[in-house]
Amino acid sequence: MIKNMKILHFETLESTNKYLIENHNVLEDNTIVSCDFQTNGKGRELRQWDSTKHQNLLISFLIKNPKNICKFHIFSLCSAVCVMKVLEKNSIKNVSIKWPNDVYVNDKKICGVLLQGEVPKYIVIGIGVNVNQIAFEGNYSTCPTSMKLESNILYDIEIIKQELICEMLTMFNNYDQYLKSAISNNYVKNKTISINGKKFVADDICPDGKLKAYDEKGNEHYLDSGEITF
Ligand code: BTN
Repeated sequence: MIKNMKILHFETLESTNKYLIENHNVLEDNTIVSCDFQTNGKGRELRQWDSTKHQNLLISFLIKNPKNICKFHIFSLCSAVCVMKVLEKNSIKNVSIKWPNDVYVNDKKICGVLLQGEVPKYIVIGIGVNVNQIAFEGNYSTCPTSMKLESNILYDIEIIKQELICEMLTMFNNYDQYLKSAISNNYVKNKTISINGKKFVADDICPDGKLKAYDEKGNEHYLDSGEITF
């Protein structure tokens, strides 16, 4: 299956998401781009995504097929599940999905997903997985970790990349299974979360990707992954 994909790799890019956004008109559906270093890696809410050169997986997927684009609201979660499966296959334990689009190991963040694009024209799914980096300098809102820090194994980033691409391609044809995994590995369940300054106690992830949560008065809410930039 990977043979039919267009996979581009660069040593340095500003951001793999930005590359696909700027070139979406001329690139085919399912084009994948990765790089060894980003000079301006993007995170959610205008945050930076910093990653030491050659240490981590920085990869983005371009989706132009309308059949897939209409599922954009569950892609962050399902992509996080793809990463979770790759991590578990590579000896990482206690992996869970932090709704709507992070992957955690215990209480530390190992991966972030950033969805961008123009629905219904195209979407870009950008994934950063901390693979071999062991020192994280600077200010992080959540404590970071990496595969190497968790297992003491030095990984071949190319193999991790191929495994993730395989999972993503499987997921594009089988969202439901992946969504079920997100539901059963829900990191935020029963935790107090704060969205746009309001406090909620999180419950289950729903089949449409929304998060069921209760406010301080016990009223039920269905939260959208409002942080997604569209
Ligand atoms: C987050 O947790 O805030 C999302 C981080 C997403 C980072 C990845 S790295 C590959 C792709 N290119 C980017 O500039 N960002 C995403």
